[in-house]
Amino acid sequence: MKDQLDSLLSEFESALTPLTEQADVLSAKANFLGKKGKVSEIMKSIGGMSPEEKKTIGPLVNATKDKMLSILQDKLNFIEIEKINQKLEKEKIDITLLDDIKSEGGTHGGYHPRTIVQKEIEDVFLSMGFEVLDGPHVEDEFHNFEALNIPADHPARDMQDTFWFHHPSSDVEKKQLLRTHTSTIQIRGMLERKPPFRFIAPGTVFRCERTDASHEMVFNQLEGMMVGKDVSVAHLIYFMKTLLKEIFKKDVKVRLRPGFFPFVEPGFELDINCLICNGKGCSVCKKTGWVELLPCGMVHPNVLRAGNIDPDEWSGFAFGLGLDRLVMMRYGIDDIRYFNNGDLRFYEQFHSF
Ligand code: PHE
Repeated sequence: MKDQLDSLLSEFESALTPLTEQADVLSAKANFLGKKGKVSEIMKSIGGMSPEEKKTIGPLVNATKDKMLSILQDKLNFIEIEKINQKLEKEKIDITLLDDIKSEGGTHGGYHPRTIVQKEIEDVFLSMGFEVLDGPHVEDEFHNFEALNIPADHPARDMQDTFWFHHPSSDVEKKQLLRTHTSTIQIRGMLERKPPFRFIAPGTVFRCERTDASHEMVFNQLEGMMVGKDVSVAHLIYFMKTLLKEIFKKDVKVRLRPGFFPFVEPGFELDINCLICNGKGCSVCKKTGWVELLPCGMVHPNVLRAGNIDPDEWSGFAFGLGLDRLVMMRYGIDDIRYFNNGDLRFYEQFHSF
């Protein structure tokens, strides 16, 4: 009887060996361990045995059954792991395969032209000791207007067509809005540090404006601020010229005009000659040959005070670079609306890998 059980066990093992599907393993289980299976037949024959025989054979049968069940469980586990491994192998992503994907007619991601230029500008300023700051898109009146010397009744608020979350005349205490400029970060930057300091802050801004070749409702600026002892217009001009030289890799013609912004005094508009038409006149420069690129000026004493800085002790400059315009000049892009239109044919021209 023992021999019979041993050979049944090895028969069971060899029946399982070639199987790769759980369903087949379960039907093999039924053949051996099911109600009409081979083990049951042996059990039946026990019925006719003497009590002594039953005592020795019974446990042998049970031990064989247990062994079969454990072999069975091992086999099921093995199949499951095998299946997972196959799936992992089939679905694995090899991120080094970019070239293959491309040759198969697929596409892969790349940087937006604005991101490319932004990184370059960040590098230039980082090398000159500036920090790079960030700030929220959703702002309050304090950071967007009041602290920047633009009180509620100031006509300068009309210059900015603001997207409000609350009606401007509602009496909600902290009326929220989408920031109309990155100058909000001047305030945040000042309140978070003690002078001397210098930082830039690139970011998206929002204005409820009619769009055309050079205007978008959602566009990008790059704010800059430097506060220290005796910081003057000469510092401002030096940093702006260095920036433009690094970005355009050549000397670009610039002109400085007086410009009014409530948060600077004196304030300037720095224009560069239009690089799309080389000064001849086009839709981007509105036929003037010049593009307004960089409003700037010396930080107004009221703004320094709003940032907890004593204007008798410290002075500073600030600028608000039109980042999208700069990118347009750099690459010869003649319509700002390409930037956000989601057309991959536009973005793909700038992929640098
Ligand atoms: N915040 C101004 C604007 O968006 C630009 C600016 C920034 C002007 C800093 C002067 C100094 O129009």
